[in-house]
Amino acid sequence: MIDLRSDTVTLPTTAMREAMFDARVGDDVYGEDPAVNALEERMAGMFGHEAALFCASGTMANQVAIKVHTQPGDEVICDEGAHIYRYEGGGLMATSGCSAKLLQGDRGRFTAAQVEEALNDPGNPHFPRTRLVCVEDTCNRGGGAIWRREAIAGIRELCMGHGLAMHLDGARLFNALAVTGERPEERGRLFTSISVCLSKGLGAPVGSVLVGSTAFIAQARRVRKRIGGGMRQAGFLAAAGLYALDHHVQRLGDDHRRAMELGASLAACAWVEQILPVETNIVIFRLRPAYRPEEFLAHLKSRRILASPVGPWSVRFVTHLDIRDEDVAKVGACLQSLPG
Ligand SMILES: Cc1ncc(COP(=O)(O)O)c(C=O)c1O
Repeated sequence: MIDLRSDTVTLPTTAMREAMFDARVGDDVYGEDPAVNALEERMAGMFGHEAALFCASGTMANQVAIKVHTQPGDEVICDEGAHIYRYEGGGLMATSGCSAKLLQGDRGRFTAAQVEEALNDPGNPHFPRTRLVCVEDTCNRGGGAIWRREAIAGIRELCMGHGLAMHLDGARLFNALAVTGERPEERGRLFTSISVCLSKGLGAPVGSVLVGSTAFIAQARRVRKRIGGGMRQAGFLAAAGLYALDHHVQRLGDDHRRAMELGASLAACAWVEQILPVETNIVIFRLRPAYRPEEFLAHLKSRRILASPVGPWSVRFVTHLDIRDEDVAKVGACLQSLPG
């Protein structure tokens, strides 16, 4: 199978498995796992923050962050397509007791002016207290769109002026940085907290890291424990993350080039109505109304290619560590042969 459903489907390479096998581990709940400690220190330093926390998933890292930043009854501002709102099991509402003010961004990216308009008057008790702004970079539902630094800086200034926290869902932050060429620290310093995923483009089997101040991470550690995320010899997993940082960041440009090749193949197909601009490793496209996504996905599957539906009309391809040039060529040939 050529699996383009998600960059989460990668399997650890032999070298990554060896790094996991050789990991020095201890009980992380006691703070005694050398591999987890090394990963947390490295990620904190890399993004210009004081501390970090290894979490079981991107969802856990995001939801722990939201819980620490807010009180029940507060409101969080994010894009209408944000993963934290749409795809995290209602955690924003259920775990943190917050409401969401949804913005209509440009493929997931909104402006400081939109945030300003969405702020609630803190002096008016009718309204929930606006407490947190969440940015997602790259934007999953936006087809892997990347935020511009100036846009983030504008929102940061506004947040600072209003005493709001700013969290980055950086599930694919390394994909964004591979394109902008910025150092992680330059982006990292713009946010109060960041979650960075190791098990998407970086190809580790498990894990995300939450980064922030020492005080924030101390509280996050308590919340993570409370929801059952205190793992013991987690260093076997952290070792895969450390290996990924050393070996799988530099190659992300290959995934982006392959995604662009898939985009170019789709552009030549008459049955494709629209393709979102391809900026990183995600390609989202809409089929002409006569061609239903279920039918299209079944056609692909019969040729041993998997993709994901996005809503009722669109389809998503995601390139990753286990997709090679020859796979992209096979998919391109298949797309051209489809009846549509
Ligand atoms: C933008 C974004 N944030 C967060 C997550 C959550 O990550 P996880 O599946 O590890 O919980 C995902 C997963 O696909 C994602 O795409």
